[in-house]
Amino acid sequence: HTITIDADGPTTEVSDDLYGIFYEDINRAADGGLYAELVQNRSFEYSTADNASYTGLTSWEAVGRGGGTASPEVVTNAEMLNANNRYYLHLPVDGAPGAPAGVRNVGYNSGIALTEGAGYRFSVFARTDAGTTPLTVRLEDPSGNAVHGATTVDVVGDAWTRYEGTLTATATTADARLAVLAESTATLRLDMVSLFPVDTFEGRENGVRKDLAEMMEAMDPQFLRFPGGCVTNVGTFDAYGAPGYDRRRTYRWKETVGPVEERPTNYNFWGYNQSYGLGYFEYFQLAEDLGSTPLPVVSVGVNGCGGPPPLTDPDALDGWVQDTLDLIEFANGAPTTEWGAVRAEMGHPEPFGLRYIGLGNEEVQREFLDNYPLFSDAIKAAHPEIRIISNSGQTSAGAWFDELWDFAVEQDADLVDEHYYNSPEWFLANANRYDSYDREGPHVFIGEYASKGNTFYNALAEAAFMTGIERNSDVIDLASYAPFFANEDYVQWAPDAVWFDNVDAYGSANYHVQAMFAQNVGDVVVPSTVTQPTNAADDITGGVFLSTWLTSAAYDNVRVTSNDTGDVLFEDDFSDGAAAWNPTGGTWEVVDGEYVQASTTVEDARSTPAVDMSGWSSYTYEMDARKTGGA
Ligand code: AHR
Repeated sequence: HTITIDADGPTTEVSDDLYGIFYEDINRAADGGLYAELVQNRSFEYSTADNASYTGLTSWEAVGRGGGTASPEVVTNAEMLNANNRYYLHLPVDGAPGAPAGVRNVGYNSGIALTEGAGYRFSVFARTDAGTTPLTVRLEDPSGNAVHGATTVDVVGDAWTRYEGTLTATATTADARLAVLAESTATLRLDMVSLFPVDTFEGRENGVRKDLAEMMEAMDPQFLRFPGGCVTNVGTFDAYGAPGYDRRRTYRWKETVGPVEERPTNYNFWGYNQSYGLGYFEYFQLAEDLGSTPLPVVSVGVNGCGGPPPLTDPDALDGWVQDTLDLIEFANGAPTTEWGAVRAEMGHPEPFGLRYIGLGNEEVQREFLDNYPLFSDAIKAAHPEIRIISNSGQTSAGAWFDELWDFAVEQDADLVDEHYYNSPEWFLANANRYDSYDREGPHVFIGEYASKGNTFYNALAEAAFMTGIERNSDVIDLASYAPFFANEDYVQWAPDAVWFDNVDAYGSANYHVQAMFAQNVGDVVVPSTVTQPTNAADDITGGVFLSTWLTSAAYDNVRVTSNDTGDVLFEDDFSDGAAAWNPTGGTWEVVDGEYVQASTTVEDARSTPAVDMSGWSSYTYEMDARKTGGA
């Protein structure tokens, strides 16, 4: 190959926000994942009405030892903690010294992971009918024989009161249980039983798991899209707790802020309960902690991913439009505004600096054309500084795709959100997709893309495609890979960037590609050409895909993906040394000044988890190549 770089040629400015993270609460990315809460079903809201495998006592066990007995029952009645937290644990215990009784929680996956010497914050809302009931809170092994840390809490009186304590783990284990036990007789009531590691990311209470957030941070993401794709826009539009309300409600940001015990839980599109403990405040804060610009996606009353009928009632729609305006105020308003005050009260008087908002996700229903303008017009009138992201369609929708594009143009949307999950070959064939994209219309947010696998070949194909993203960054402002997280025991969707269990997390090959690109962004792209073998356009064998760019620091960086030498070469850095390019993950090394994959460990069993991919056959987003000028 011969690469020719025209360093004095016309340049294209690279977007400051180009590479980010698509975070979705899918695969238990939040509860049981990023959200550092270790207790599953802490507020006893799990219900068989949601999922046949759930009960109010999911993840809980009755404990009675040495003759002690406990009769836990999940109830809802006038004694509920508050109107947003309607179920609690009614817990008659008949214990005695040496005969403890109560309950214990088994956490997620294999249990509760502890690190010897680490501190854990316990808290609970409780009441007792026995005047004062001392509780022993202990971390124990599955048999209940070994204690890995304990504290005591005195519950006083029969009114809901929050109690807390700190425990220090005396063992490192992945399968501990949190037991709450009494050695006396009483009828206890418990709610919001909680255990957090003290050592969360940035040390925040109600914070996120440090190792997982550090995987995000290591990628150097320029933006954070949250809280998801379909999890944001499928469900009913009922208010929580309204008579006959449906428990699977569309994600509504206001339900996710304020004191955690006042946030209603929700049974989500992906088939599990969300505590909303990781809510909009926490997402904004996380984005800030990561140095990323926040990019929330909200529902516009259309169930694009399939679900209950879209919202058409004008009054109800007004409420959702107002919610969206209030969200912008929550993020950016002064503490003197209604929603800025809520943010300030939660501990962040400074604005979060929201610049983008996504209206809808994969909205392929016609009601989108009716609803979107209500939201877009209101935002433009009140907040012209916010960049609005509309949707794009898919070729299987035929003329609808063109209509949606024309609609985005007509609505003067700042960006459209394109998604594609396709084969590696599609990505190779479409590396030039944006070279002749329409420069007059909305810009592009590639909100989700992946080549349907976490093998090294998938990652390489995506890297090839990303050189096209970078070359066309005058029209592509933002791009993010498929969902970031998957808890390996609760997988609804693959591929994903990072896989984890209670103890470990590892980046897929695709994650490392994302990280390499995001960590190394040029200021301007300069034109270049490469001689190719005849098969290069859609066949990676022998193909070279490149973007060439300048930075203010170094003026001759070249990014190349190729396998034509047998080794996989991601990039040459011809001038400024190794440090800036050193990818994470430990599977790379510098050979003769070039970064090469040092081993095949990226393709080991852990980066290709056994996942049921059968759903893929019915899910293909073949995006229109109409605007690419052919690939
Ligand atoms: O990423 C998983 C799903 O794929 C998202 O929820 C949705 O936007 C897309 O269809």
